Amino acid sequence: MSEVVVENVHKSFGALEVLKGVSLTVERGEVFALIGRSGSGKSTLLRCMNGLEKVNSGRIEIAGHRLEADPKALRRLRTDVGIVFQSYNLFPHLTVGENIMLAPRIVKDVTKAETQAIAREVLQLVGLSEKFDFYPDQLSGGQQQRVAIARSLAMRPKVMLFDEVTSALDPELTEEVLMVMEQLASDGMTMILVTHEMGFARRVATKTVFMHKGTIWEEGPSKGLFANPRTPELRQFVKSDVK
Ligand SMILES: Nc1ncnc2c1ncn2[C@@H]1O[C@H](COP(=O)(O)OP(=O)(O)OP(=O)(O)O)[C@@H](O)[C@H]1O
Ligand SMILES: [Mg+2]
Repeated sequence: MSEVVVENVHKSFGALEVLKGVSLTVERGEVFALIGRSGSGKSTLLRCMNGLEKVNSGRIEIAGHRLEADPKALRRLRTDVGIVFQSYNLFPHLTVGENIMLAPRIVKDVTKAETQAIAREVLQLVGLSEKFDFYPDQLSGGQQQRVAIARSLAMRPKVMLFDEVTSALDPELTEEVLMVMEQLASDGMTMILVTHEMGFARRVATKTVFMHKGTIWEEGPSKGLFANPRTPELRQFVKSDVK
């Protein structure tokens, strides 16, 4: 079953056309890596998928929701579609547990005890059970990012979007965040991730999508795509970007 359908999406900022007719389909449980040069439209595409940006034309369906402007519909969509950014955006004056419990308490009709149980469960998933009562500034960058992922998971999303979640981290901390994402993938989460970690994309993503100048330039099963790029643009990108 398709969990994400993007059909001929166009998006401009003023005179600048950033997405020029993008289409892709992600099946349930698939992991898509979005790669491409800076400015190719990766973040914009991701942001369109949960309504942070409005498309000019085209159709997006995600986690059973048709993307539309109605704020109520958007709120419903966002309980099923988690997004995590490079910056963790945790509330510094709230503990880890409180950060995670905030959204479910507001959006979902659950008791405090239930949200506590959910928070403990998702913290365990990201390997941070013992940090429930810590404040964000008492954690490393990698730990904070894992809390940000846990916070998204607390909403029980059907689809997770990740935009360069490891870009601000040292290699060692990057590794611990990637391990959490790999675990999520093997648990069957449908995921789309923008990443510069080519090794991770090749190993974990079922498909990789190479964006270039606002279009999907190449797309295919990750291993084949990296091993045999068909276009000179992807060949060049893979050569210059492999760490
Ligand atoms: N809110 C905005 N207003 C105007 N222009 C924007 C806006 N957001 C993005 N752009 C422009 O759209 C283009 C694509 O940006 P986008 O952030 O999607 O690229 P990207 O592929 O994610 O790049 P990077 O790898 O650097 O994150 C860029 O030229 C950018 O300047
Ligand atoms: Mg980006």
